[in-house]
Amino acid sequence: MKFIVGNWKMNGTWDEKETFLKALKNVKTNNKIIICMPFTLLYGNDHGITIGAQNISEYNNGAYTGDISGKMLKDADIKYVLVGHSERRLYHNETNAIVKAKANAAIKNGITPIICIGETATDKNAGRTMTVVKKMLLECIPKTCKYIIAYEPRWAIGSGKTPTKEEITAIFEMIHKTLHQVGCENIALLYGGSVDSTNAKQFANVPHVDGLLVGGASLKSDTFLPIIKSID
Ligand code: PGA
Repeated sequence: MKFIVGNWKMNGTWDEKETFLKALKNVKTNNKIIICMPFTLLYGNDHGITIGAQNISEYNNGAYTGDISGKMLKDADIKYVLVGHSERRLYHNETNAIVKAKANAAIKNGITPIICIGETATDKNAGRTMTVVKKMLLECIPKTCKYIIAYEPRWAIGSGKTPTKEEITAIFEMIHKTLHQVGCENIALLYGGSVDSTNAKQFANVPHVDGLLVGGASLKSDTFLPIIKSID
């Protein structure tokens, strides 16, 4: 079983959600399909597809205007949430410490955080990918081994660029080994960044890759269904 996680980012209306879920309704798959939708679309967890959230507050309640807590997500029957996506780090200044606090807030409410990590183009060009990603990983992970890791090189998101097979194999080996060293053996690891139906299978087959995080290609059933089918 692989995870195929969609990330709708700031896209989607109620009608678009209904159309999308209808198109996916009868799809036969052994994989776990999760679509992380904007807050306005979180209710109505039906059609056999799991709906996840894209953000969570590190606090449980209080004077944090505009934020949504783990308690509220739990109340909406949400089981998965993205934390530390590179766009949250970039546009909302989320640090590794904040990401870790958010992951803990999710776990406390019985929600699995999908913790996103990945190097920038500058890191990559300077040959720092391994050290940067390992540091991010160690600074973001909670003590309890109840999370998923999504490795998404920042330069690969929405760019059509992807790491080579050698690069991706090495980084997943490192992430797997690092988690093993901290006593977390069975953490699912996802690859994300310009995944589409032409490359999904090849990423999913890399050792230690347990699934994919798909942005742009998850927005329409026409582009998302072929990804699901390609890894069954
Ligand atoms: P992309 O986005 O698939 O459009 O590159 C991935 C993500 O941001 O999670």
